[in-house]
Amino acid sequence: MTFTVAIDGPAAAGKGTVARRVAAHFGFAHLDTGLLYRATGLRTLDGTDPVTAARALKAGDLDAEEALRAPEVAQAASRVAAIPEVRTALVDFQRAFARRSGGAVLDGRDIGTVICPDAEVKLFVTASDDVRARRRHAELTGNGHDVSLDDVLSDLRQRDARDSARATAPLKPAVDAVLLDTSQMTIEQAVAEAIAITDARK
Ligand code: C5P
Repeated sequence: MTFTVAIDGPAAAGKGTVARRVAAHFGFAHLDTGLLYRATGLRTLDGTDPVTAARALKAGDLDAEEALRAPEVAQAASRVAAIPEVRTALVDFQRAFARRSGGAVLDGRDIGTVICPDAEVKLFVTASDDVRARRRHAELTGNGHDVSLDDVLSDLRQRDARDSARATAPLKPAVDAVLLDTSQMTIEQAVAEAIAITDARK
């Protein structure tokens, strides 16, 4: 059985946590597609050409999750993500993952619109800029990154603007996506809502 849950949204809206918990609940596999762009972006920081880096990417490169979570890598990711050839190089891996048997949850920016337009469930998870900045700031400082709330907020806004404005696979909800605004929700409420929506489509 294949069953795909596509979760998109801006940076730090809670989609990663929702995706992980939905996957755990249903026993589905989970792919955080942001890691593909982060791993590609990380390679470019030492001068590697972005398209070469994307084409050479291996599943094992996603294991260096701690290094991939660094703020400068997020910015590099959003820059390489605007290059059409980079996106093309990463499509097959994502689609193969989505079709694996047993069900899959993919989270990113273009899963419901481009990667898996036929996904059984599409969610677009958002939250206000302030809420997202506070959540990401707590996460980064909790992991030992020395960043200010203001810097986190401007990083999110800059990436969202770049991700929404790019010509190829911009950040936007699929027409048939269910919008989930988590600004006023606890993570438990957001997860419960996502599980209920998924359950209703099974
Ligand atoms: O989700 P995360 O914040 O880790 O993603 C890092 C960057 O990767 C995003 O800002 C975006 O530019 C890019 N990305 C993308 N398409 C995806 C996932 C991430 O363009 N499906």
